[in-house]
Amino acid sequence: MSELRFEGVTVRYGRALTAVDGVDLTVPSGQVVGLVGESGSGKSTLARAAVGLAELAGGRILLDGVPLRDRRPLQMVFQDPYSSLDPRMTIGDSIAEAAAKGPRGARRDEVARLLELVGLDADRASTYPGALSGGQRQRVAIARALAGRPEVLIADEITSALDVSIQGTVLNLVRTLQRELRLSMLFISHNLAVVRYVSDIVAVMYLGRIVEAGPARDVLGNPQHPYTKELLAAAPRRGSTSLPPPDEALRLVADAEPADPHHPPAGCRFHPRCPIGPLIRTDREHCLTLDPTTEADHRLHRAACHHAAGVLRAVGSNPPVLKELKEDLQ
Ligand SMILES: Nc1ncnc2c1ncn2[C@@H]1O[C@H](COP(=O)(O)OP(=O)(O)OP(=O)(O)O)[C@@H](O)[C@H]1O
Ligand SMILES: [Mg+2]
Repeated sequence: MSELRFEGVTVRYGRALTAVDGVDLTVPSGQVVGLVGESGSGKSTLARAAVGLAELAGGRILLDGVPLRDRRPLQMVFQDPYSSLDPRMTIGDSIAEAAAKGPRGARRDEVARLLELVGLDADRASTYPGALSGGQRQRVAIARALAGRPEVLIADEITSALDVSIQGTVLNLVRTLQRELRLSMLFISHNLAVVRYVSDIVAVMYLGRIVEAGPARDVLGNPQHPYTKELLAAAPRRGSTSLPPPDEALRLVADAEPADPHHPPAGCRFHPRCPIGPLIRTDREHCLTLDPTTEADHRLHRAACHHAAGVLRAVGSNPPVLKELKEDLQ
């Protein structure tokens, strides 16, 4: 088991685009952190930084307190099972390639073990990816990731390319494997309903920053950031397929321009879309100039919102005493 920790991680593409901007996030040992946020918010970039596919412009990434360098006991499963497997290799060879070197017989046994672990018959090893369904290919991709005996698994939109009817079984598989193998996991999805299903901790990303994070039950049950509320309002409830009617304020800001990561707004990055911000409440000019991330540690769920509830740590009190400073979001 291992703890993965991002400390002030910044990733840039060229000079103009800061895709991940000073992210602090911890994946505790053996737990699932669900990272949610709209397209372009920087989720995949953060994941790619962890596995060494994106260079850090700032900050560091630690595994059990030690900066990640060459040894990376991290594996990643990607969105698209069609492009993540080599079509010219049998799935057995694909998995064996990722497993530790050893005698032929031992590798064959290991491939059989991994295939069974992900719910595929061991005798499918000689099959090519082209003969498999999307769900089966994603199972192979998961087996391939597990072949590296990772301590941390990063799952980036692993069900988004799959048929809705099989998303649930793949999610169940990943959750079961995570528990059985006691993996630490960063689970990325733009879909809050999916994240809610698998995560112990939820982190919400917006324009390159984490804007709210905490235990899943707390964040989803008592969201502090208006963006988290927006995501929750858009996510269908369990057992229901219809969306709740849009709130009047949400309708007012719905016409705002989508966020442009090349030109992040000053002050609070969410202000041009915020239903409780200066667009709606003209007295809230401070949102235009003051960056709420600087004081986030003093707010509930480290929310990057000037109007979120604050946390007061009374001397000697454990757990911390919560004090509702503002009630705008209630
Ligand atoms: N290789 C790249 N070169 C230049 N810009 C990139 C590259 N990859 C991503 N970006 C940009 O970085 C920002 C963050 O992208 P990223 O893929 O990390 O977002 P995401 O949250 O994973 O989105 P999605 O939900 O669509 O997968 C976006 O503005 C994107 O256009
Ligand atoms: Mg992505």
